[in-house]
Amino acid sequence: MLELRKMTKMLGDKLVLRNITLSLEKGEILAVIGPNGAGKSTFFKCTVGLLQPTSGEILLDGKLVKKNSAEIKQRIGFLGHESFLYNNLSPLENLKFYGKLYKVKDLDRKTNELLKEVGLYLFRDMPIRSFSRGMMQRLAIARVLLPDPDILMLDEPHTGLDQEAVTLLNNIIKNKRDSGTSILIISHDFEQVHALADRAAVLKKGKIVSTRRIREEVSLAEMKRWYEAEVKSS
Ligand SMILES: Nc1ncnc2c1ncn2[C@@H]1O[C@H](COP(=O)(O)OP(=O)(O)OP(=O)(O)O)[C@@H](O)[C@H]1O
Ligand SMILES: [Mg+2]
Repeated sequence: MLELRKMTKMLGDKLVLRNITLSLEKGEILAVIGPNGAGKSTFFKCTVGLLQPTSGEILLDGKLVKKNSAEIKQRIGFLGHESFLYNNLSPLENLKFYGKLYKVKDLDRKTNELLKEVGLYLFRDMPIRSFSRGMMQRLAIARVLLPDPDILMLDEPHTGLDQEAVTLLNNIIKNKRDSGTSILIISHDFEQVHALADRAAVLKKGKIVSTRRIREEVSLAEMKRWYEAEVKSS
């Protein structure tokens, strides 16, 4: 579905991503884990088009993606560290704004459905200025889901969420996976990675050093041991 070939990224004179080759299959949840500074967010930005990779190729369904391609923007929904929400608008207004931008069909029904799904329906008309971090994150999640992308890329999506919202997000992610969406998650949260991922890849100093099947094969403790061994080895 989404394939990255030999992606590299230089920032200043530093090689932050080194020859990353990785593929995301249809209906799969892939987690990318790695220590601080490993290059995870840079990898994320290069893949979703927020940063231009220095070299390498991105293929969508086997087809080479051109620079700044509209296709990648349409098909990939991404949630990074910025929420891309407007503080003076309410949840409903924010979603309507994005819905029009993305030409979402049946917008009224969809926005209401999503607001209920993320637990913000009661707050739908309140300017989000006063929202807590977790409420913002819930709305950011709704925004990403609105155009129904077939690839989801999430950078630390559990950050700021309470236990209820974590469960809610995980259920959304699993349901999306089961209906064929491909999902890439960047996370430090081993428990969530273990609960969600079909596969995990360890990114260390800009390189993918190991990938492993997780779902139904590896216990949480085993996954942690694998990660620590991969990060320690040179
Ligand atoms: N503008 C820049 N110029 C030079 N180096 C940069 C720049 N931005 C980031 N870096 C370096 O790139 C490396 C990777 O950063 P990145 O933010 O991708 O890491 P990360 O794995 O997401 O870390 P974290 O777990 O802390 O979020 C770091 O060593 C950082 O110092
Ligand atoms: Mg990061």
